[in-house]
Amino acid sequence: MSNPSLLILPGDGIGPEVMTEVVKIIDWFGAKRGIAFDVSTDLVGGAAYDKHGTPLHDDTMARAQEVDAVLLGAVGGPRYDDLDFSVKPERGLLRLRKEMDLFANLRPAQCFDALADFSSLKKDIVAGLDIMIVRELTSGVYFGEPRGIFKEGNERVGINTQRYTESEIDRIARAAFELARKRGNKVCSMEKANVMESGILWREVVQKVHDEDYADVELSHMYADNGAMQLVRAPKQFDVIVTDNLFGDVLSDCAAMLTGSLGMLPSASLGAPMANGRPKAMYEPVHGSAPDITGQGKANPIACILSFAMALRYSFDLGDEATRVEKAVEKVLADGLRTADLLGHEGETPISTTEMGDAIVAALDASL
Ligand code: IPM
Ligand code: MG
Repeated sequence: MSNPSLLILPGDGIGPEVMTEVVKIIDWFGAKRGIAFDVSTDLVGGAAYDKHGTPLHDDTMARAQEVDAVLLGAVGGPRYDDLDFSVKPERGLLRLRKEMDLFANLRPAQCFDALADFSSLKKDIVAGLDIMIVRELTSGVYFGEPRGIFKEGNERVGINTQRYTESEIDRIARAAFELARKRGNKVCSMEKANVMESGILWREVVQKVHDEDYADVELSHMYADNGAMQLVRAPKQFDVIVTDNLFGDVLSDCAAMLTGSLGMLPSASLGAPMANGRPKAMYEPVHGSAPDITGQGKANPIACILSFAMALRYSFDLGDEATRVEKAVEKVLADGLRTADLLGHEGETPISTTEMGDAIVAALDASL
């Protein structure tokens, strides 16, 4: 049997730097655990635009459809701000999500003990936090038609459309309930049913899926603005949060910051199962390309490394090995190792991206 295949798309900004550290972890699994991957690397975002004039070449898109999992670093940067909208780096990422139909975006927000006093919130509010945001990723206002900037009389109007079909809501609700069963068995669904028809339908369908097939899971509904407030007031009340594409984008940044740093948060974007039973999948850190620190050795590779751990768990059924990576990360943090984004106390000196990657590899060695 051939090795499982990975397509690595480092992208822009700190993407390549953090991905270099992920490759060390991938290589470690080949060398020390006999778990080898066939790895190929390609361009996405601004890097692809620079070479091909498009943020995602058709060949790369085709390759992404074939592999067992895609690992993506980050896209975008100020150099590309003035590009035409259709070729902006983000369009490459959105095309991958849409064409691979990666409708379920899993964004865990876990507070590592060693970082509990690093959050902008009080320690007891975040210590032990473990929530999972399930963001719908292939529909809603990100993709709805009509969209565009149009002329209306003597001024222009910008239009985007929030649009959800019953089946789109149904499948994301199922993904959330399935996950909840493996965790705290609680789902909170967030929308704005008080002002949006799409929110009314969202609430109805989530409730129906629950009543028909997941009555054993505790379900609540919340308006998304209240959800944002509750996330900073008492985040531990949540287990799984399921929400649409745009609310999920905003709420997951908020949840990420509860844990101390955006540099810590991984994500998995999953689609329907392929012929081999594995879900179509792409794994990426929640953070962006961080142009302000690019090339300085300051980037935190942990979010990207934890994204690979999610790949082990969700694409390759290697939950124990995923836990091994998570424990290695926990260990280096407990040992006091900090990249620049994690500095909270006087007298702490940061380690570099490379040093963090090497320390995690060493912690993996120690786990054997
Ligand atoms: C994210 C990002 C993306 C999004 C951007 C880069 C297109 O913010 O993954 O959260 O808005 O979905
Ligand atoms: Mg975002």
